[in-house]
Amino acid sequence: MRRLIVFWAALAAMACGRTQEAETMEQLRGRVFAIAQVQAVYMDSLLTATTPADRRCPRTFQGDTLVTSDIGWWCSGFYPGILWMVYEETDDPQIRELAVRHTLPLAGLLDRETDHDIGFQLMSSFGKMVRFPEADPVGADSVLTGGACVLAARFIPEAGVIRSWNWGPWNIPVIIDNMMNLELLLEYGDREIAEKHALTTAVNHFRDDGTCVHLVDYADDGSILGSQTVQGYADDSAWARGQAWALYGFALMAQKEWEAGNDTLAQRYFKVAAKLEDWLLARLPEDGIPYWDFSQTDYKDASAGAILACGLLRMWELDGCEPDDPSFRMAGRILRTLASPEYLAEPRTNGGFLLKHSVGNMPGGTEIDVPLTYADYYFLEALTLFPEVSSL
Ligand code: GLY
Repeated sequence: MRRLIVFWAALAAMACGRTQEAETMEQLRGRVFAIAQVQAVYMDSLLTATTPADRRCPRTFQGDTLVTSDIGWWCSGFYPGILWMVYEETDDPQIRELAVRHTLPLAGLLDRETDHDIGFQLMSSFGKMVRFPEADPVGADSVLTGGACVLAARFIPEAGVIRSWNWGPWNIPVIIDNMMNLELLLEYGDREIAEKHALTTAVNHFRDDGTCVHLVDYADDGSILGSQTVQGYADDSAWARGQAWALYGFALMAQKEWEAGNDTLAQRYFKVAAKLEDWLLARLPEDGIPYWDFSQTDYKDASAGAILACGLLRMWELDGCEPDDPSFRMAGRILRTLASPEYLAEPRTNGGFLLKHSVGNMPGGTEIDVPLTYADYYFLEALTLFPEVSSL
């Protein structure tokens, strides 16, 4: 109820044109979720214009057109996840109906060949639905358990890793993004596989300065064939979203291991994340949003900023929640920037996406300076992680 009051107060503040300088983080959160509620419904109306509506997933908005994918695209869970987060915040029954409708088709992933992204896809959709048993017509946990088995089947014991992609010129490619899929195994599957993968990644993906490469390719016996930064500027540069996946992935693993009482493992993961965190804090720009690669200064990547905010907030929690913690302050700065008109779209524009200015795959020449579902998803997640009362 308290959240609802904050929510309506935020709408009123928007209507009165309240300036952002005067805004507390709690008000900012209410304002963003109020816009997210409008955008989520608007996006569904655009999706409904494509057929069959409940089988298409929003991907980006380019040239005044909503670009969609089918459920196989790695991002298919993010729009359902956004709907669940908005429902949690607003209790709006229309949003709940949309959340259920856009979540259910993803169960079809269990019947087709997938890749490691099944963790992203199912945790952001069914992994959120499971928290609302009254709105769950299928038993989300059985889908999640099935998904965890699919993910575990990709484990290659000789290399101690879960294979990422089924395509490309590599033998056993493992990308840093894969860290984010491990939560599915920790919660619903084989914990040991998740731990082995994370430990192998901690050794093989990181450079001496604390940053990570994007991809490590393994031979069948587990030796390393090579490493690359496929979506970054150069093999020796720091691709911003890759650093964000690494920070959030290891911070999340550390948090889960603490909760499970596995302090030694938690410390190991925390150390990896903390070294990268120091590197990032020394280099993030004033507004907190990195360029798509830390070696570049052309396009900002809001998605990397949003994921970094989540990772920094998890690190802050692990570090004891000190109000002056630099990670906490940086996360606040990122969220304020993303909630500013430079990044946050006006309601009923931007194809129903919240944020502008993300970069999907610069070397691939796709999704440059566009909205992306995962930017919105992690922006909302970071807002829910941020403490409700904060003067930052
Ligand atoms: N997981 C793919 C990406 O971050 O672009």
